[in-house]
Amino acid sequence: MTQALRFVLIQLSAMLLAAVIVSAFKWPALFWATLVAVFSLVGALRWHDRKWWAFIHSAFPFLLLLALNVSIDSRWYLGALLLSWMVFGGVLRNRVPLYLSNSQALKILADQVPEGARLIDLGAGTGTVLAWFARYRPDVYVNGVELAWIPWLIGRLRLARSKANWQHGDVFAVDLLDYDVVYAYLSPEPMIQLWEKAKNEMRPGSLLISNSFDIPNAPPARVLDIGDWKGSRLLVWTI
Ligand SMILES: C[S@@+](CC[C@H](N)C(=O)[O-])C[C@H]1O[C@@H](n2cnc3c(N)ncnc32)[C@H](O)[C@@H]1O
Repeated sequence: MTQALRFVLIQLSAMLLAAVIVSAFKWPALFWATLVAVFSLVGALRWHDRKWWAFIHSAFPFLLLLALNVSIDSRWYLGALLLSWMVFGGVLRNRVPLYLSNSQALKILADQVPEGARLIDLGAGTGTVLAWFARYRPDVYVNGVELAWIPWLIGRLRLARSKANWQHGDVFAVDLLDYDVVYAYLSPEPMIQLWEKAKNEMRPGSLLISNSFDIPNAPPARVLDIGDWKGSRLLVWTI
């Protein structure tokens, strides 16, 4: 079961249970929200894979109550939902949110990329990596593939006048055979699947470079500190 579905089931169960108690004792709505927060927090600690879900669960009923008590046209909620879906909708499926490589990471990445190489950015966000290479390393052929529509559209506009190749689609549908360097800044979730794909499709001697995320049981050939406040690293595997 996905974490998102787990969230919905825990919240609904907590809401129903709290509603039964609150209506039996004729308690006010704030009591209901407090009970939902407590029940769902317990459920989150038991059934979610990360502790931060507990914070989302406990805040959710109070935010819901607040939203019901302020008069905002419901079309704003619909608009916000659609916008979030178009930026982050893929997170429900692949658990990879949007955040961008910083310039320190890109400089260190560029040091790893041979002259005239072919590079693909898997999950290319808004095209930051491609725009950087187009500007500072025009010798490198760059391709980017992105699934979420709004980041993809921003990348499309941003790269309109560059030679970079920009695709909409799923990284797991792209053949990696043609690339000397595969760069991925994703999340812990897809790394095992990515490793299997890389081993099956990439040529011997080509490089897989992950920003920040390890592959379980596959130690990288080298690890390069990016030197940012997050303590990020580039992990490099030679296929
Ligand atoms: C952390 S961002 C990295 C963006 C960019 N590579 C960078 O370094 O600035 C990860 C991106 O991967 C995209 N993504 C996640 N899973 C994907 C998939 N299966 N296919 C294509 N894009 C995906 C997300 O939508 C998100 O924009």
